[in-house]
Amino acid sequence: MGLLVPSLEMLSLLLLCCFFSLPRLRAQSSAQEALDVLIQDYAYRAFVRPRTGIPFDGIPPSNLSGVHISAMRLRSGSLRTRGVEGFKEFTIYPGVIEQPYVERLVLVYQNLGNWSARYYPLPGYVYLAPVLGLLAYDASNLSAKHLTELDILASGQPISVEFSDVKSAPPGSLPKCVWFDLHGVVNFSNVVSGNRCSTVRQGHFSIVVKSTAPPPAPVSPKPSTTPPGPKHKDKEKKKDSSVWIIVGSVVGGLLLLSLLGILILWLRRYQQKKRMQKMEKAAEVGEALHMATVGSTKAPAAMVTRTQPTLETEYMP
Ligand SMILES: *[C@@H]1O[C@H](CO)[C@@H](O)[C@H](O)[C@H]1NC(C)=O
Ligand SMILES: *[C@@H]1O[C@H](CO)[C@@H](O)[C@H](O)[C@H]1NC(C)=O
Ligand SMILES: *[C@@H]1O[C@H](CO)[C@@H](O)[C@H](O)[C@H]1NC(C)=O
Ligand SMILES: *[C@@H]1O[C@H](CO)[C@@H](O)[C@H](O)[C@H]1NC(C)=O
Repeated sequence: MGLLVPSLEMLSLLLLCCFFSLPRLRAQSSAQEALDVLIQDYAYRAFVRPRTGIPFDGIPPSNLSGVHISAMRLRSGSLRTRGVEGFKEFTIYPGVIEQPYVERLVLVYQNLGNWSARYYPLPGYVYLAPVLGLLAYDASNLSAKHLTELDILASGQPISVEFSDVKSAPPGSLPKCVWFDLHGVVNFSNVVSGNRCSTVRQGHFSIVVKSTAPPPAPVSPKPSTTPPGPKHKDKEKKKDSSVWIIVGSVVGGLLLLSLLGILILWLRRYQQKKRMQKMEKAAEVGEALHMATVGSTKAPAAMVTRTQPTLETEYMP
């Protein structure tokens, strides 16, 4: 009995995980969040003698070599009225406001370089440019860690991102700007003049193109090192993702059903075992039953003599 109860709990937990893994796919992954936290820390370390409005390049930890980070401290009023002419690939026009309001803020720039696809895997797409991040934080304590991002909103002209090295897209394919917001929501928009994207909010940005190879099945949440390369010519590029979604849902549904079946089986067995124990207990107490006899002969005798309705009904599925 003591062994059965935890197993049942584990099964229910497993079922719950199945249900909750679906919406959680939309949330920013913990790896992305941890990366933002780490980069904020290393970017703030670049401010040895901080001057306002000047970008300071930070040195990333050695386990992130290939990533470029930079930070710029600004008065909130100056950001709103003057913007920032060039912060790496970003141009911020007047009219940007932050929420909640702070007097001074730090803009943190990330260029994820060859780590882009690892931290921002996008099945079915290939990156033509590195993932660039623009995040804003409160500047009141430059030794602070684990800061939460400020929301920034370009109320006037959108913030422009001009990518410097965009790989050429395979002929016939259409490059798209991709934007990951801080909740992990992905949005696509058109590329302007071959290398420019625009945004009204903070987040991570890049230029992608649909991969011509079918995307890998979205089974594991582990970020892949390399994006799927173009291996096969496939005409039904657009249908690919929807097919995978359907396959995924069917497999997920079947899994869920079989888990439910297992749960019901477990409940049945648990109920049976409980009944047996009760009978054995009855026998021990001395209801004149032979311990050696098989269950079938013991059962009716015990049922008649000791009926405990609470236990009978409690575990009915
Ligand atoms: C990289 O190194 C930093 C500092 O040494 C550490 O805090 C961080 O967890 C490491 N990150 C990864 C992804 O290994
Ligand atoms: C990116 O390149 C650096 C060297 O510049 C290397 O140390 C690092 O392992 C590479 N990262 C990935 C994910 O391949
Ligand atoms: C700034 O942040 C650091 C690290 O969290 C903390 O130790 C320090 O007390 C803070 N300083 C102020 C003035 O809040
Ligand atoms: C996502 O992009 C579309 C255009 O591609 C745009 O109309 C829509 O407003 C965007 N969504 C958000 C949340 O910005």
